[in-house]
Amino acid sequence: MSQIVLGVGGGVAAYKSALLLRALTESGHDVRVVPTASALRFVGAATFEALSGNPVSTEVWDDVPEVAHVRIGQRADLVLVNPATADLLARAAAGRADDLLTATLLTAHCPVVFVPAMHTEMWQHPATQDNVATLRRRGAVVLPPAVGRLTGPDSGPGRLPEPADVAALAELVLSAGAGALAPDLIGRRVVISAGGTREPLDPVRFLGNRSSGLQGWALARVAAARGAEVVLVAANVELPAPFGVRVVAVESAEELRTAMHTESSGRQHAESSGQGAARPADVVVMAAAVADFRPATVAGSKLKKGGAAEPSSVELVRNPDVLVELVGSRPPGQLVVGFAAETGDAEGDVLTHARAKLARKGADLLVVNDVSAGRVFGRAENEVTVLATDGSATAVPSGRKDAVAAAIWDVVSDRLPRQA
Ligand code: CTP
Repeated sequence: MSQIVLGVGGGVAAYKSALLLRALTESGHDVRVVPTASALRFVGAATFEALSGNPVSTEVWDDVPEVAHVRIGQRADLVLVNPATADLLARAAAGRADDLLTATLLTAHCPVVFVPAMHTEMWQHPATQDNVATLRRRGAVVLPPAVGRLTGPDSGPGRLPEPADVAALAELVLSAGAGALAPDLIGRRVVISAGGTREPLDPVRFLGNRSSGLQGWALARVAAARGAEVVLVAANVELPAPFGVRVVAVESAEELRTAMHTESSGRQHAESSGQGAARPADVVVMAAAVADFRPATVAGSKLKKGGAAEPSSVELVRNPDVLVELVGSRPPGQLVVGFAAETGDAEGDVLTHARAKLARKGADLLVVNDVSAGRVFGRAENEVTVLATDGSATAVPSGRKDAVAAAIWDVVSDRLPRQA
């Protein structure tokens, strides 16, 4: 159980902080809500007190013998400000201490995460951007805002991410520190495949695999939180899109192949943004479990028992290797990351097989899962080794898939060419 301070700024998105509070307490954390005075014009103190089980105050003048303005920050394991308004970011960047929340921000030794929400103009204003840069320089995490519906008829960047995404990222920072959400992917385009393909046999049956898509989802969520523009090519995954991530749904290996070529080359990006030139992805990650084989023929109607048409066997043909194709057609500077689920056998251990696969596929990095004895599939925890072409092997200890994703992005980020 961690001690979390949930700072709440005075914007209409404050209503979502009640749901975030609930998610955090349900995960077993002790949450102390510190709203600004204006936040209480949107959500009443009684709501925060009832959901947190802790008292709520906005001013340094409450609970004076407790020296609350110092103690609350000192004791916290995480300060999470949700929503962070333009005014709150400005006061935090200036180091003001004119209410309990800003005083808490000055006394906290722990990671601090700001989740901005405001109108697009306010977010994009140079004053706000300077404040964000200042806070990031000092080590605070300032998440990029989601894009979508804002108050009134407007929409654009400035929307508060959904409580489930913020809660997941808060857990990541609690377990791995603020560095897990370093803003090192700002300006990068990332295309990730996730899930498992389905190869149709007839209109109702398919050959599939047990990939849950959870690791690919975590990679997308963390990349977006680190500032990347993310496209997730998702094969048969029934999970809500992580905030800030565009999901392209596919089913078969062939559909996944087409989507990955289009998205990684940037052709789709050029069309949808109205910009003439295609802008290829900086990083392509093949986390999907792609079927190596598909049925040679797909029946047009459901295969029935009995009669002459009953199949006695299924003939399979080889699918193209999408990763090898992507490596072969990649533009200069694009980093390609493969995944490999391996088991050791009489011919070699997991890493020996994985090194051979890295060489065979030609990718820059290979994220290796040891799947001996049914490990990994569908579980929240994972443990990987990241192999690189220079012979290095980075062991990522067992952890939640978001923490593993952050460690993978650390390795990728170190290898990206510098931005102009
Ligand atoms: N992959 C791919 N296209 C395929 C098969 C695999 O792009 N038809 C990608 C996966 O997304 C993954 C990597 O290749 O990033 C390794 O997948 P894996 O199944 O371990 O590789 P295979 O080449 O199928 O090797 P094996 O013979 O061990 O099954």
